Amino acid sequence: MSCFCLSSLAKKLIMSISGAFLMVFLVVHLGANLTALFSQELYNEVCHFMDTNLLIRVMVPVLAAGFAVHIAFALLLTFQNFMARGEQRYAVAGKSDVSWSSRNMFVLGVIVLGFLALHLFHFWAKMQLQTFLGLMGMDAVPNHDPYTLVRELFGNPVYSVVYLIWIWALWFHLTHGFWSAFQSMGLNNANWLPRLKVAGTVYAWVIALGFSAIPIYFLFF
Ligand code: HEM
Repeated sequence: MSCFCLSSLAKKLIMSISGAFLMVFLVVHLGANLTALFSQELYNEVCHFMDTNLLIRVMVPVLAAGFAVHIAFALLLTFQNFMARGEQRYAVAGKSDVSWSSRNMFVLGVIVLGFLALHLFHFWAKMQLQTFLGLMGMDAVPNHDPYTLVRELFGNPVYSVVYLIWIWALWFHLTHGFWSAFQSMGLNNANWLPRLKVAGTVYAWVIALGFSAIPIYFLFF
């Protein structure tokens, strides 16, 4: 009996919706990060806004849930695909693309996840989490100059190189994930697929180059 009650199609749909949600999050996150390239004051103001704005505060647990759902269904689908022998699902679903990325979405996801943990520990826990704890009346060490934290961390070449490796794993995840998500949502005809692949490549490059610009900037300037 397939556990988990939902059909494969439903699971793929949940995967695609959660993936699309995470892709929107990446755009917002990149927009906020890039302000660090322009001015310390602006970046600190953006962080302050992100920490205190009501909508963002509501969205943080929603985002965590988005990650949790995506990871849970990644495990489920990968396990099921493994049991049903790997890439068969692509043939069944009519997907002709069996690129390296498509075959390694889980490994790429695990790299992204590893970095996410590191990132939460080094940045989020010292920035937004402290403001949230303070707002809840708990012991907190508010960070009034997140820019300096960012500069210090990315000034460390080891940290920056690890960050860059993560970004390029994300690039691979997105080059396949972007169009695959739309395909899972039903946009899979011959007209749309090539367009989605181009849009996915553009999206992945914008995200990867944008996120890469930040450690490179702080390493060299
Ligand atoms: C910011 C982070 C992430 C984004 C933007 C993202 C985005 C996506 C997108 C758009 C898809 C395509 C969904 C589809 O084919 O319908 C996908 C698939 C996938 N993701 Fe992620 N993902 C992220 C993090 C992760 C993490 C942390 C994992 C954990 C292991 C993961 C594992 C997977 C797997 C295994 C698939 C393929 C599922 C399948 O079709 O069998 N992803 N991701």
